[in-house]
Order: sequence, then C-alpha cells, then structure tokens
Amino acid sequence: MFPTTRPRRLRRSPALRELVRETRVHPGDLVYPLFVRSGKGVRTEIGAMPGQFHFSVDTLVEEVGAAIGDGVRSVLLFGIPDRKDEQGSEAWAEGAAVQTAVRHLKKAYADLIVMTDVCLCEYTSHGHCGLVKDGRVQNDPTLPLLAKAALSHVQAGADIVAPSDMMDGRVGAIREALDGAGFEETAILAYAAKYASAFYGPFREAAGSAPQFGDRRAYQMDPGNGDEALREVALDLEEGADLVMVKPALPYLDVVRRVKDAFGVPVAAYNVSGEYSMLLAAAAHGWIERERAILETLTSIKRAGASIILTYHAREAARLLR
Ligand code: PBG
Repeated sequence: MFPTTRPRRLRRSPALRELVRETRVHPGDLVYPLFVRSGKGVRTEIGAMPGQFHFSVDTLVEEVGAAIGDGVRSVLLFGIPDRKDEQGSEAWAEGAAVQTAVRHLKKAYADLIVMTDVCLCEYTSHGHCGLVKDGRVQNDPTLPLLAKAALSHVQAGADIVAPSDMMDGRVGAIREALDGAGFEETAILAYAAKYASAFYGPFREAAGSAPQFGDRRAYQMDPGNGDEALREVALDLEEGADLVMVKPALPYLDVVRRVKDAFGVPVAAYNVSGEYSMLLAAAAHGWIERERAILETLTSIKRAGASIILTYHAREAARLLR
C-alpha cells in the first residue's frame, strides 16, 4: 500500500519502462495486405485508403521488395479481377492476378510468407461471398468453388490460404482438397470469427466487392456475439484450421482474448481498412499523433492475445519498430 508501494518507481526512465514492458510488437508479427490486378506498371492509390494501392504484378513485386527492406516478412494478397461473373470463376483461374503474383513473389523472395485471401466476393457480379440462388447465398454449393480457388493459390506456391467467406464447412472442404492434391503441409488461416462490420467500408471500395443487393449479415457474425465466436473457432479448428483470425481487431479485442484463453492456438487479428483509414484521417487533421497511434494500436492488439496482426500499417510500423 501507498506510501510503501509506488508504481511510479518503475516508470522513471525509458530504460526502466523498457525493462518492465510486458508486450512488444515485432515486425515479424505483421502481415501486409495488398491488392493485385492485371496489367503492367499499375500503382493506383485507393481513395478511401491513403497510402494503399492497386498494383499489377510487376509493381507488386517492387512494393513487396521495399516492404521486406522495411522488415516485413509476410503478405496477404487480394485479387481484383478483369471480369466478374455469377460464380466468380476468375477466383480459381491459373493465370489470374493472385496466382501470377504468388508465383512471382515466391520466385523473387524465397523467405517471404505469402498468404492469399480465399473468397468469391471480389469475383462475383453480385458481390456476395458465395453462390446466389433466389436471392440467397448458398452454403454447400459454394464449398467446392472455394476449395478450387484455395488449391489454385497453393499450386501457384502460396504458403498459407485464408478463407474469409464465412460459409459453414469451408475449412474442411479446403483441407480435403489440399490434402487430396498432396499439399498436406500447407497451412490454413481461417477467418473464424468474422463480424458483419461497418469497418470494411474502405476495403469494399478498394476491392470493388460491395454486395449488389442485401448485406453479409446472413453469413458474417453479429457484433453482439462473443460466445458464438468461440463456437466458430472450435468448428474451424476441428475442420483443420492451423491459425484462427478475429476480424475486425479493435472493436473485438475482448474476442481476441477469449479465443486465446480458450484455445491457446496462434490467433490472428485483422486491423481492417476502416480502422486504418480512421486513424489516418484523424492524424491528417492533426487530432492524433500518427506514429504513436499506430504503435499503440498494434500493441493493444498484441496485448489482447494476438500473435499475428494483419495491418495496412505494416510497412510504416516495421520501420518504426526497428
Ligand atoms: C472478403 C474480405 C473482406 C475483407 C477481407 N476479406 C470484406 C468483406 O467481408 O466485405 C475486409 C478487409 C478490410 O476491411 O480491410 N470477404
């Protein structure tokens, strides 16, 4: 008790504070999400996400080289298709942007971890994450398509596939397809607890993936639910997920902590587009300090129990952390 106990004794200098610091973010914790499309020399800034771009494969390879120079070791790829259709068939086309990018990245940077987002919403004309029939997203008929897309990424050389569609049973379907093709060593990062969130707004502009009718509430989780996140994670682990994700990150840090405590597996948290753009907008107004806010955000996510942080701040954060 005071005056015997004085917590301020350990806060007196930078070195003392560092000595007792419980949580440290390392550049190796970060995954840098990137958008890739066809073409050459493309580097188009995304309006709602300052500092983030659409790349073609050649400029993507350069960008990733620069990111590696900053200390980033992992990337997550999203594809912007040339053509959309009802099924989202460009999602599994061998020569599409993501598959081509994976091949080039793995050839250029042997130690880089290449993850790919597996979903149909960027590729479907209706913008939903699964097949649509009579105005409803069909679960079971979507599974083989997701498995095909995941397999095409892995055949191109992806180290980890990350299904983000929230169909039931998709982790098992993907695991079976990968094992059947001899890729039993390739890991799955399941977007296990993915919420129907307003914070995906900028991404949907970036990926052109806003649903053309309705919303995603019939497959993504309700923001009020925490117990359900544990059930989702349990199912994905049973189906063979190696890593599980909570998404978004900041409004769901309690869920990150609960998942970590309940399962003890490596948990990833996705610091999504809206979280990124919000911070940058406030910093641009001079309302918050950009660099401190970025590091505090990432530290909080890690303190909540995440060992992997997917973040558009990855390059800047990696530089700041060195
Ligand atoms: C695709 C997908 C989304 C995000 C990642 N994968 C969008 C969505 O579900 O609408 C969001 C990422 C972000 O906001 O940064 N299903």
